[in-house]
This record gives sequence, C-alpha cells and structure tokens, in this order.
Amino acid sequence: MEIKEFKIVICGGGSTYTAGIVKNLLDEKRLGMKELWLYDIDEERQNKVAYLVREVVKENRPEVTVKTTTDPKEAFTDADFIMAQMRVGGLPMRVQDEQISLKHGVIGQETCGAGGMAYGMRTIYPMVQLIDYCEEYAKPTYWIVNYSNPAAIVAKATQKMRPNARIINICDMPVEIEARMAEILGCQMSDLEVDYFGLNHYGWFTKIRQNGIDVTEKLKEHVRKYGYISEASMNDVFLKDSDWVHTFKVSAKIANYFPDYLPNTYYQYYLLGDDMYKYMDINHTRGMQVINGREVRVFAAADKLAKGEAVDMNQFYVGVHGVFIVNVVTSLAYDLRSRQLVMVPNNGCVENLPDDAMVEVPTYITSHGPEPIRVGAIPRFYKGLIEQQDACEGLLVEAAMEHSYVKALEAYTMNRTIPSANVAKEILDDMIEANKGYWPELK
Ligand code: G6P
Ligand code: MN
Repeated sequence: MEIKEFKIVICGGGSTYTAGIVKNLLDEKRLGMKELWLYDIDEERQNKVAYLVREVVKENRPEVTVKTTTDPKEAFTDADFIMAQMRVGGLPMRVQDEQISLKHGVIGQETCGAGGMAYGMRTIYPMVQLIDYCEEYAKPTYWIVNYSNPAAIVAKATQKMRPNARIINICDMPVEIEARMAEILGCQMSDLEVDYFGLNHYGWFTKIRQNGIDVTEKLKEHVRKYGYISEASMNDVFLKDSDWVHTFKVSAKIANYFPDYLPNTYYQYYLLGDDMYKYMDINHTRGMQVINGREVRVFAAADKLAKGEAVDMNQFYVGVHGVFIVNVVTSLAYDLRSRQLVMVPNNGCVENLPDDAMVEVPTYITSHGPEPIRVGAIPRFYKGLIEQQDACEGLLVEAAMEHSYVKALEAYTMNRTIPSANVAKEILDDMIEANKGYWPELK
C-alpha cells in the first residue's frame, strides 16, 4: 500500500485527551503524518497540552513536527482530516450544566437531559462555524471526524444546517462497551462484531458475534448478573474511575428489565433517572471530578515537562477511544470499508424511524463516507423511546436555528429526564441566564 501524506488537525487541541489520541495517531503509520496541527481558541490551555503532545511525539516518532495555532485559516488550510473535540464553555460550564439540573431535582449530566441540551445549545453554532472554515480553507476532500459532545445534538444540527458537509459524527461509548464485552468473553475486541441501533448515547446492541458465532445470550446472562464488568476489567484504566465502574454495573438492571437487547450505558440516565439522581452529588459532580483528576494530572505533567523533568506518559494514553477515532480516519483515508458504528442520516436504515433521525448504526467506512448497514424495523418500545428523543433533539436544533423560546421549552419538556413542563421552564430559564454569550438568543 502506498502511504499518502495527510495534513491532520486536532480542533480542540487543549483537551485533556489530546496527548493520548496523538499516541494512537502516531501508532498508525499509514497516516503518513509529517506535521500535526493543534488548533484551539484557548491558547494558554493548548500550550500546556502541547508540552505533552511534543513529549509523546519525541518518544514515538520524533520526525513529526507539532504545530499549534489559534488562527483558523492557518489551521485548516489544505487540511485532509480534522478531528473535532471542542468543549464549548470548557469544563467549568460542564459543572454548571450539572449543578443547575440537579438543583431542579433532575439528573445533571454532560450529554443527557437538561445539561446535555444546554451544552448542545452552546455547541451547535461553533460546530457550524468549524464546517464553514473547512469548506473555505481545507482540501475539497476534507473529512471532519467529530466527537465533540453532545454528539447526538451536534449530528442533528450539522445535518440540518450544513447537509453537504463532509462530517462524520462518532462516539466511543459503543466500542468502550465492546471492550468490556471482549473481557467478559475472554477474547480480543477484533474477534467481536456487533449489531446495534439507536441514537447516540441512546442505542441498543441486538447481536454480538465472536468469530462469527452468536454469543448474545451468553453475554446477556453475564450482563444481567454483573453488568458490563468482568473480573479482568477491574484492572482496566478506564475502570479505575469509580463512576465508570458504577455505570458499567447499572446496565445489569436495565438488561433485566428489558431482556430483548443490551443497552448503551447512557440509558441509565434516561431509564433510571431516579436512581441516578440519588447517586449524583451536586458538590462532587462528574465535571468536578474531571477538573480535579484528569485535568490536574495533565497540567502538572505539562509543568514538569516545561521544567525539563521526566513524566510517565503512559497515564495519558486513552486506548480504545483513540484507536477507534484513528480507525475511522484511516478507513476514510484508504477506503478500507472497515465496519464501524457511527451516526448517519437514517433514510430508511431503521425502517420505522423518521428519515431525518441521525441514527447510530454499523456502517462501512469508505473514502466517500459511511455506508450504513440496514437494520430493518424495530419493536414498539424502542421505536417509541427513540422517536421521543429524536423529537426532543430536533426541537432543540430548531430552537437554535429559529431563535425560538417555545421550541426550546418543547425540547426541554419532551426530554425523558424532565418530569413536567413546569420543571422544564424553570430549568430553561436558569440555563438561558447561565449561558448568556454562549447560547443563541431566544425570543
Ligand atoms: C464516554 C462518552 C463520551 C463522554 C465521556 C465522558 O467516552 O462516549 O461522549 O464525553 O465518556 O467521560 P468523562 O470521564 O469525561 O466523564
Ligand atoms: Mn460519547
């Protein structure tokens, strides 16, 4: 295979995940990287993270040059692949989303419910702007591989507002679950092939095959007892984090209630909101944990590197998450048609869902984009759930596009995690206040 040279840009270079993802990029020699570009609007933050990125490059492929910029023209000119991982408002606003929601008695979560919708309203226009930059400056064959959250809302918005953009919206949660499945089954992830349908953070595994053999029932039995946790996976980095252990365990309850399929872990917020509300602590939210954990570790390492001290870079490698993103990029680059779960416009893929739903399903990633594998019709319970969530997300996007307060209220009311229009209105009004300068103005 002839190795091509690509200009790869990470948009949101200042993320705590950047160094880890760069490791995965460097490991994939087929991406023929000479220069790696980091782009962020927060120069100071990106400069810190750049210390780690340079260290990873030095340790792995010192011939690669790292460039940082805050200038979109410089970043995106002639870019081939843009990996988008922006967090509009940063982690402090993640905490704010969580706390405002919890204050009103509903779950406060990064991408789900009231918090996720607030984050969506902040992210829609910056993502559209990113597309416009790429249309203007990047190569005509550019691809944006977006995993900026809330990916479901971003996918819906970008599809509606820039339908011809070369963007693929992806999320690592299904592959993270597949990694847990492989551990439970005692096999490699590459031995597994799954069937799946849903929206992002809102989907179901319908079949799991291990080297072609159907192991769905065997897995269900395990998940109903223990959730997505195996003895071995207790040693996994991702799982050292107690919230994630909890999350993977909670799936057991859902798998018992609804035995047809295996859930995406994010259903804990939509189907077990009461349990999760009790579990959540307004003074110790997930966003706060990330600020005091991963972010502190990244900044401390940057300080050390700046002083010329040694740092163990292994702690920043992100594993499955990064491998998945790089697999998608490589498949786009070389038309590999690898099978990946990504978000696509439904257009009949799930027969009885609206054509304009952005469904997360298995696809083959070709150089001209994902080719979805047809799912067929889904049972009424799942159809109903998904239609409601799709309506909620669609209304939110329309609220942003039309600057409509009423549509935003409809979206908040439509969300499963919010019990009444009264609560929806109270939260919405607080969110509008707290997101001044970030949200489109609503009339
Ligand atoms: C998973 C999800 C992402 C989400 C992340 C949050 O990877 O797929 O969408 O952003 O978890 O993890 P954190 O450790 O920041 O709570
Ligand atoms: Mn995700």
